[in-house]
Amino acid sequence: MNNKGFINDFSKQTRQEKIRLSAEYTDKPVEFERCLREHLHSDLSVQALYDEFTENAVSNFYLPYSVVPNFLINDRYYMVPMVTDESSVVAAAAKAAKFWAFHGGFRTRIIATNKTGHIHFLWKGSRERLSGFISTIKPGLFDTVLPLTGSMTGRGGGILDIRLNDLSEKMENYHQVEVIFNTVDSMGANFINSCLEMMADYFLYQAADHGLADDLEIIMSVLSNYSPGCLVECSVSCPVDELAKADDTISGHDLAGRFEIAVKMAQHDVYRAVTHNKGIYNGIDAVIVATGNDSRAVSAAGHSFAAGDGNYKGLTHATIDGNNFDYRLRLPLPLGTVGGLTRVHPMAKMSMSLLQYPDAGELMAIVAAAGMASNFSSVRALVTSGIQQGHMRLHLTNLLRQLGASDPERNSAIEFFRERTVTHAGVANFLATLRKKNH
Ligand code: MEV
Repeated sequence: MNNKGFINDFSKQTRQEKIRLSAEYTDKPVEFERCLREHLHSDLSVQALYDEFTENAVSNFYLPYSVVPNFLINDRYYMVPMVTDESSVVAAAAKAAKFWAFHGGFRTRIIATNKTGHIHFLWKGSRERLSGFISTIKPGLFDTVLPLTGSMTGRGGGILDIRLNDLSEKMENYHQVEVIFNTVDSMGANFINSCLEMMADYFLYQAADHGLADDLEIIMSVLSNYSPGCLVECSVSCPVDELAKADDTISGHDLAGRFEIAVKMAQHDVYRAVTHNKGIYNGIDAVIVATGNDSRAVSAAGHSFAAGDGNYKGLTHATIDGNNFDYRLRLPLPLGTVGGLTRVHPMAKMSMSLLQYPDAGELMAIVAAAGMASNFSSVRALVTSGIQQGHMRLHLTNLLRQLGASDPERNSAIEFFRERTVTHAGVANFLATLRKKNH
């Protein structure tokens, strides 16, 4: 129990008051307040924009905005923006992008772009009655949302299908009206949820009109982030003997073989699969954040897809056919290039400009390539030199900062560790010795 207590109407307080009240929860209130103020944007109108993205915003949280050149995707070069806190992610993506730019680049194929939502309800009546009733009101369900779907239909999207799902064998009386949407270039969550809620009102109204209201209880209406209908495939391929680089200590043949085995392992062991896929999402998430898309929706869709047959598996497949190495990634990417933060967040807007204003399909291709690049570099490193060498080298600057290294100490440490293994203890020892020598 602490003495902080319940705060009434916190959201109605001024920024200053919110910071002060929050500072009381910290062990360094003065530093907390100063740090939060220092991270406010100097242009008040920009800060006001950021404040509007969420509630109770009191400051900003910076992450580095990186760019990765040489992404050759479907014969077109991209400079890909990435926002990530993990030091090796950008370097890994850059390495793979460069390698594949010399081997034909990334090829992508959009398999489908559908999204799904449901009206979840309980039905106490007979199946036949429900099924007949849904068939009767189906045209009305389409029509009732015309005021919402009109402009989406004009852009080539809208509602593709409405069907009834009977889940009553899994849970008593549980049924769904399932609605399939094409939201074109928007991620479409708000559009889908608005349509579903409007349809649910119509459903209820019609049930009452048909004397069925007592049998029906609508529980909720919401889109599903399970998105197996919104799929992209990304692939790369090259001759096996070109897979290894001149400075590799392993042949292309051996590298391809070890790579293929590593990818197979992620098909059979959940521990490896989750980590393998995390390496894919290192790249995906970074582009998703940089473009103002919904990283939670994309991760939820991807990981549930990875467990689609009941066993969580790696999302990539490697095959060696004669002298050809082929590597493929297939995953759902529910993305948008209009709506949400994509055209509101100042940096997301710049990301769209950097990517030359892709439509949602093109962004799916770019994001998939970024995921594949991250994963390719990770697996390649894992089956050859291991990942720690590269990781810790990039992590060195973070360690030096944590240990309070001055600029000259930092430079000496970078020089010292150029050819040595970086460890936390090693860096701490190096600094201690250096400081002793200089006193
Ligand atoms: C680290 O962020 C990601 C990796 O663990 C991915 C993998 O193991 O494939 C290197």
